[in-house]
Amino acid sequence: MPSPIRTAKRVDGVSYAVRDVVLTARKAAEAGKDLIFMNIGDPCQFGFRTPPHIVEAIARALRDNQTFYAPSEGTPEAIEAIRRDAVERKGIRDPLAVFVGHGASEPIELLLTALVEPGEGVLVPSPGYPLYSAILGKLEARAQAYHLDEERGWAPDPDEIEALVDAGTRALVLINPNNPTGSVAPRAVLERVLDVAARHGLVVLSDEIYDRMLLDEVDFVSTASLRDDVVVATFGGLSKVWLGPGLRLGWAIFSGPEVAAKPLLDAMGRLLRARLCASHPVQHAVPAALEGPQEHIAETNRILRRRRDLLVERLRDLPGWSLTPPQGAFYAFPRLDLGRPDAEVVRELILEQGVVLVHGSGFGQRAGTQHARMVFLPPEDVLEEALRRIRAYTEARLG
Ligand SMILES: Cc1ncc(COP(=O)(O)O)c(C=O)c1O
Repeated sequence: MPSPIRTAKRVDGVSYAVRDVVLTARKAAEAGKDLIFMNIGDPCQFGFRTPPHIVEAIARALRDNQTFYAPSEGTPEAIEAIRRDAVERKGIRDPLAVFVGHGASEPIELLLTALVEPGEGVLVPSPGYPLYSAILGKLEARAQAYHLDEERGWAPDPDEIEALVDAGTRALVLINPNNPTGSVAPRAVLERVLDVAARHGLVVLSDEIYDRMLLDEVDFVSTASLRDDVVVATFGGLSKVWLGPGLRLGWAIFSGPEVAAKPLLDAMGRLLRARLCASHPVQHAVPAALEGPQEHIAETNRILRRRRDLLVERLRDLPGWSLTPPQGAFYAFPRLDLGRPDAEVVRELILEQGVVLVHGSGFGQRAGTQHARMVFLPPEDVLEEALRRIRAYTEARLG
């Protein structure tokens, strides 16, 4: 018998709750449960469609044999479109560099790989999208969790962030609008967080992949537009706003003082060259997305607003569930007071009711609190049914 292969310890800490719950869902499906998936942030699995002009740009590129390797940083046309959008729409005055990647996930990973040594720290929001802590686990670096404050609309607390900075802290991650809370960070808070980054020489990673998915009249501010003396990497991509998560196309925009950023840009350049390039034909969609028709964005937001409102309404009078209404993206992160850990609630909801949520502990949360992430992408009738089942589960538990 061959002995089981020993794997690298650095992978032990890598987990990704959003997909981990699928294992329980599979069990429920095998037992004949009819499942409602509210775990995955993919609009195209809920009837949303990639806009036709984006599909056509890629199809045309394929027909035109644009299947050879592209430059490692990205095609000049994609880079120029991203740069123009950064300056004109996001208010990032003087981008130093733009890199196109395989989703936003790849440049995020390359940046952290280029920046942190094993044992060094990166401040990450809790709750927050688990990609960052997964990558840091792989790099044998430390994820230093700072809390988003539920009592203040899930805003970060700059004082807490500053108190967490230690000699090994290298960077700070902001996710705005946030996944999983759907919160949008106020300008004044971002300014104070940038003060902390400036005082301690931290690189700021501002994940703005949901930047145009705004459900209310909120003042969304791109972090990098606020000051020029901090190195900021702003992430975006086609996955969410342009309804194409499987296209795997994203980018990083670097801004800030050139002298400080140069070694990081050089190191990232080396990593980018080693992986050749992002998908070439899909890069042809970038100018089409950023400079073509934009009507789908308002339309998507209008649909999402209705679904968000329905969710808020149904949870309002449900004992044991309390929700700070999300203002962006398509996630809600209600607090659970059901007398049991959230992982157990999520497991029972899947196995008993067939409703697939993700436990809050998969994103990080304040010790002693319990939450679940709900994706409100499903159509209203499906959401109604899911909420009816959640109510049945809750009433059976709370009596
Ligand atoms: C905050 C955040 N950043 C990045 C990503 C991944 O982006 P991409 O599909 O461009 O790799 C996601 C996906 O859910 C996300 O929620």
